[in-house]
Amino acid sequence: ELDGAERRFQERIDAGIRIEPEDWMPESYRKTLVRQISQHAHSEIVGMLPEGNWITRAPSLQRKATLLAKVQDEGGHGLYLYAAAETLGVSRDDLIEALHEGKAKYSSIFNYPTLTWADIGAIGWLVDGAAIINQIPLCRCSYGPYGRAMVRVCKEESFHQRQGFDIMTRLAQGTEAQRRMAQDALNRWWWPAVMMFGPPDTESVHSAQSAAWRIKLHSNDDLRQRFIDQTVPQAELIGLTLPDPELTWNEERGHYDIGPIDWEEFYSVVRGDGPCNRDRLAARRSAWDRGAWVRDAAAAHAAKHAGDKQ
Ligand code: ACO
Repeated sequence: ELDGAERRFQERIDAGIRIEPEDWMPESYRKTLVRQISQHAHSEIVGMLPEGNWITRAPSLQRKATLLAKVQDEGGHGLYLYAAAETLGVSRDDLIEALHEGKAKYSSIFNYPTLTWADIGAIGWLVDGAAIINQIPLCRCSYGPYGRAMVRVCKEESFHQRQGFDIMTRLAQGTEAQRRMAQDALNRWWWPAVMMFGPPDTESVHSAQSAAWRIKLHSNDDLRQRFIDQTVPQAELIGLTLPDPELTWNEERGHYDIGPIDWEEFYSVVRGDGPCNRDRLAARRSAWDRGAWVRDAAAAHAAKHAGDKQ
């Protein structure tokens, strides 16, 4: 039973009216958004690490410049998202501290290693491809600052997806060794990318309430299916094979069916036991400590010039 204020809030959401920071909102709506937006921000920031690993080793000046720009974009996405979370009355420092203490989640996908240059192609194609499918609907979500941040993020993700697909296409059409490298990267990244959309709908604890609040416009499984249906023909186009012997077109459903997803692996990565979880957190903590002098200098500069305009 909703009380009067909650009922009016839900009516606004149902009417498609956006919620803005100064509007009244139930505490649980605010908490859900802080949880999701901060996890999303942390994902962008931690997501810089696997790709940053290849900036110095990109195979040409052009590939290096493109990758550098892409990784920098991810940093920017993290910053818009922390700013969106701050409109809900939390501080960025507290959110970052929760990440560094291992209390906050970030996307499972960024706990896998980038072993070869083809992994950079696979990440752009699959991981950014999956991110776009999840984020396009978020542009229309009920919370204004989150939806608006997503508009620019999605435009940039679309460039990231194309650069990844371009790398994969080149490798797939290259020498036999290059083709094998592309196939190997696809074999390793496919299932983690399929898992990115989160647990199956039957296990997703937040989905029903987030759907009612129009934070989630499509379910985890619906978005996952959309990703699979989009990616199968792309793999065929460049002559690579998805690592799933049970993958088949289901005429009746009008969708591809896939083999079983290894949810044990997903939950183990989310719990902190993936191949790179410890390295990722150690890298973030070390970057934070090594950046202390920059924050101190910026604060000292701001304090020194605080009165300048008067
Ligand atoms: N990796 C890590 N944790 C996950 C993942 C994942 N891929 N998917 C779900 N979870 C977590 C949820 O955060 C939740 O944990 P919590 O209760 O401690 O917060 C738990 O598993 C249960 O899942 P759901 O009930 O399905 O959670 P939710 O409704 O939040 O849906 C989803 C998860 C789809 C990821 C949603 O939060 C979302 O759309 N987030 C915004 C997009 C995003 O964060 N993208 C990051 C990767 S893309 C990129 O950065 C390039």
